[in-house]
Amino acid sequence: MSTDDKIPAREITPPELYANRRTVMRGGIIAAGALATAWLYRKLNGVELATTESAPLAGLVTPSDPTFQVAAEALTAREQIINYNNFYEFTTNKDGVAKAAAGFTTDGWKITVDGLCNKPRVFDMDALRAISPPEERIYRMRCVEAWSMVIPWAGFSLSKLLSLVEPQGSAKYVAFETLHDVERMPGQSNDILEWPYREGLRMDEAMHPLTLLTTGLYGRELPPQDGAPVRMIIPWKYGFKGIKSIVRISLVATQPPTSWNMYAASEYGFFANVNPDHPHPRWSQATERRIGEGGRRKTLPFNGYGEQVASLYAGMDLHVHY
Ligand code: MTE
Repeated sequence: MSTDDKIPAREITPPELYANRRTVMRGGIIAAGALATAWLYRKLNGVELATTESAPLAGLVTPSDPTFQVAAEALTAREQIINYNNFYEFTTNKDGVAKAAAGFTTDGWKITVDGLCNKPRVFDMDALRAISPPEERIYRMRCVEAWSMVIPWAGFSLSKLLSLVEPQGSAKYVAFETLHDVERMPGQSNDILEWPYREGLRMDEAMHPLTLLTTGLYGRELPPQDGAPVRMIIPWKYGFKGIKSIVRISLVATQPPTSWNMYAASEYGFFANVNPDHPHPRWSQATERRIGEGGRRKTLPFNGYGEQVASLYAGMDLHVHY
C-alpha cells in the first residue's frame, strides 16, 4: 500500500515559493490570509510535510473532452494538496490530516452498491478498476471555506458504475457513505459529525459525465488524507460533497440525509452548487483564495462548469436550493 516518508519542508518547497519567501515576509504575513499564513508558518518553523508516496496508477488516459481538463490554470502543487485537508474522521486540523491518516490501510476494501437497482453488487477494488481505465481529469476544486485548488484527479464517470447495477425508475437519488470504524478512523470517537459521513446526489447529477468516481491524484493512487481508496469529486459543487473513503453507494427514492446539512442546514445545503451570489451566512462566497497564489480570484458560478451543468437546475431558485 502506501508509506509515509517525511522529508524536511525546505527540501520540497516549490522554487517559486522559495523565491517569494522574503517578499512575503516583508509584505506581512497577515495580508497573506489564514491559509497562506498556516502554510508559511509551517515553512518558517521547519514543520515537516508529508510526502505520502502511493502506487502509480496503471493505464492512466487523457480524456478527449476538453471540459474534463482545465488547461489554462496552473496545477496546485501536490505537496499542498496532500498537506491541507478536511477529513474529520482523522482530525479537524487541516494541517494534521496527512499525519493522522498516515497508517490507514485499505487492503481488502469493498464497496457495496445497492438499493433500487436490478443488479446490486459488491465491488472490490480490482472489480472497480476493471470498469474503466482511469482518466486524468484536471478539475477546479472550490471549498465552501473559500479556498480553491486545481487538481489532477484520476478516475471515471460514476455513471459507468451506476449503469452496471441498472438503476430502477424509482431511483431518484444516490446516497454515499464513508467507512464507519472508530479503530481505523479515530476522529469518529468525536461526535462533531454524525458518523458515518454521508453525502448524496440527485440522479441526474450522479449520472452527469463530470461526476467523477475518483481513485487517484497526480497519477498515483489516492493517499489516505485525500480519501483512499475511492472518493467522489463533483467539480461544480463545494468540496464537502466530495465524500472520501466510500464503502456504500445506494440508489434511493428520496433525498438522503447528508452530513454537513444535518450539522447546520442553514449553512450547508443539499445541492451545494458553487454560487458566488449566495453567501454562506457567515461569509461571502464571491471570491476565493487559490492555494499557492497571492490575492483573491472571483468565484465563478458552478465553479466555471455552468455551460455543462446549469441546465440541471433550470427553473430552480438557487437561493432556496443552495
Ligand atoms: N469526506 C469524509 N468522509 N470526511 C470529511 O471530513 N470533508 C469534506 C470532503 N469529504 C470530508 C469528506 C470537505 S469539507 C472537503 S473541503 C473535502 O473533502 C476536502 O478534500 P481534500 O482534503 O482532498 O482537499
